[in-house]
Amino acid sequence: MPITVTSPLLPDLKEFNELLTQVWDSKWITNNGSFHKQLEAALCEYLKVPYVSLFTNGTLPLLTALQALRITGEVITTPYSFVATTHSIWWNGCRPVFVDIDPATGNIAPDCIEAAITPKTTAIMPVHVYGKPCDTKRIQEIADKYGLKVIYDAAHAFGVEVNGESILNAGDLSTLSFHATKVYNTIEGGAMVMHDAEMKKRIDYLKNFGFANEVEVVGPGINSKMDEVRSAYGLLNLKQVDAAIEARHQVAIRYREALRGVEGITFFDDMPGVRHNYSYFPIFVDAEQFGRTRDELYFKMKENGVLGRRYFYPLISEFSTYRGLPSADPANLPKAHRMADSVICLPMHHALAPEDIELTLSIILH
Ligand SMILES: Cc1ncc(COP(=O)(O)O)c(C=O)c1O
Repeated sequence: MPITVTSPLLPDLKEFNELLTQVWDSKWITNNGSFHKQLEAALCEYLKVPYVSLFTNGTLPLLTALQALRITGEVITTPYSFVATTHSIWWNGCRPVFVDIDPATGNIAPDCIEAAITPKTTAIMPVHVYGKPCDTKRIQEIADKYGLKVIYDAAHAFGVEVNGESILNAGDLSTLSFHATKVYNTIEGGAMVMHDAEMKKRIDYLKNFGFANEVEVVGPGINSKMDEVRSAYGLLNLKQVDAAIEARHQVAIRYREALRGVEGITFFDDMPGVRHNYSYFPIFVDAEQFGRTRDELYFKMKENGVLGRRYFYPLISEFSTYRGLPSADPANLPKAHRMADSVICLPMHHALAPEDIELTLSIILH
């Protein structure tokens, strides 16, 4: 059996069956049913946020956030992310403007944001990549100075807190992915976090075709509702997500202990005051110092059944849709390129066996 980079957190099947029986009995299987409402309330409490709107995946809340804020023109974003971040900008008919990252976190570099602002800029879409918090204070200062909206792609940042406050409260809107590969999953799923009841109402309309009631459509909505089956699944997974995060933390501790001081290998440490979710464990290979290239190590791992992933390589700015944009020029993004060319995400999940961790480490160390 290969050792995969992640493994889904699955609810207890018996408990799930009991909830499924309730769904079957109610015959209410989607459209803001009881489990949907319960999960939204439970997520508000767990995530320490005022309002949550559930979605059917993590891409549609990004699309919908840009629609809801009526974003046009140029949106400043990071190339160091999963491609859905930039796709959401493109699908809204806006132009993505890539800026470089801060190598200390992998996140968008605030100083580069300011330099990329033009009269057409209307929004910033940063990503808390690997769940590491962006410099939200600095980003907000820039947004306020230039009158820009901020939409955080927080797909990786479930449960992440800074000094006891949810990172999801930063900016105008934040979006989450509950895909099977994430720390917390509903198989496919996602959510948007907002600050006020008015926005929650607007988003709830937009994710249901724009319907405000039986006869009124108040905007060009889409269908991105989460169903009752996955809402029930999500309620059960919420009960075990803390234990899963702690299990991931223990994996991170072991990786760091074994890899600290290894020449040519670097990784992120915990940030002060941050509750991390350990969603990924990226390492960065300096080929000259390490004596092997990133890809040599990556394929060696693969040959030995250890399926790390090169997240996020290639950069989004390298894909055919985007590489013609002036901001996609590699000369504009040297730090992002360096990170993309050196990264391997090691296997990281709640059920990783000690022998699998040690096998992964031994391939790196020998
Ligand atoms: C940063 C980021 N944004 C958006 C998404 C899209 O989420 P989903 O796959 O749930 O549509 C993902 C992951 O899949 C992601 O990693």
